[in-house]
Amino acid sequence: MDALVLKRVLLWVIMAPADRITKGIILAAGAGTRLSPATLPISKILLPVYDRPMVYYPLSTLIMAGIRDILVITNESDRENFERTLRDGSQFGVRITYEVQYVQRGISDAFIVGERFIDGDPCVLVLGDNIFCGDDMEGIMSEAAKDVSNATVFARWVPDPDRFGVAEFDSEGKVISLEEKPKDPKSNYAVVGLYFYPGDATAKAKTLKLSSRGELEITDLNRLYLDEGSLRVKTMGNLTMWIDAGTFGSLLESAEFVRSTEKRFGIKVLCPEIEALKKGFVSKEEMEAWVASFKENDYYDAITKFMERM
Ligand code: G1P
Repeated sequence: MDALVLKRVLLWVIMAPADRITKGIILAAGAGTRLSPATLPISKILLPVYDRPMVYYPLSTLIMAGIRDILVITNESDRENFERTLRDGSQFGVRITYEVQYVQRGISDAFIVGERFIDGDPCVLVLGDNIFCGDDMEGIMSEAAKDVSNATVFARWVPDPDRFGVAEFDSEGKVISLEEKPKDPKSNYAVVGLYFYPGDATAKAKTLKLSSRGELEITDLNRLYLDEGSLRVKTMGNLTMWIDAGTFGSLLESAEFVRSTEKRFGIKVLCPEIEALKKGFVSKEEMEAWVASFKENDYYDAITKFMERM
């Protein structure tokens, strides 16, 4: 191949639009005031949910979505704790980097704090306290990750929509409005904390104004996509479990859910080591070495048992 052709091919490879989302952000900042005093010593996102730190759950979600390039956004004081917990991600076959959100400016601020990491690419954002579980998760995320020109969010029926961003649908199932924590919700469909965006999320986030609670609201970002006709809202079925583990009750419920599900089915759910093995992000040999670096306990024994069945 002559030099000019080679240059053209290389340029095409560099310039070609990504055909799938490959970057993901875990938003693990936030004051955690709703869980005080439990969060006085440490970030909410590092509190244990049953036998692992909360951040293992959104991390499992990203791995399940096939995402290998991950940014964790933390508070200034918790950055080291996250780095000690997740390291560079190689134990899970992913690359994890960190940024600090110095001022609590809301969820959409993640795209501004993460601007260097995103670098104009499409990106998925998962909130650190959102736990998703269900057989259909992998399928719906993989579909959303393939759509790099629209934003995709998910709505789920909840009994207490006023706690969340709420989607209103018309008679044909099309979303006609989005509201953040409305006093008088127009539906029972909460928009969950898992968002897939095209490459312009940072540019759009920069145009947002602070809300009355002083935040760049994720609902306002989603509304920009809705207004320009590029927001897809998929409903999650009842068999998909979703918990926002940000209250005392839901934190305990999440732990109970994980423990009872694992006990009933005899398999770990939302375990990043197992999700990484399933995806082929790490080999059995690599995982064996990682597991061997810990003392035996029920958590690591379950990973070993999983590998024996592979
Ligand atoms: C945030 C979002 C809200 C979303 C929820 C999902 O609420 O603002 O739109 O429905 O996460 O967990 P927050 O946790 O900040 O109260």
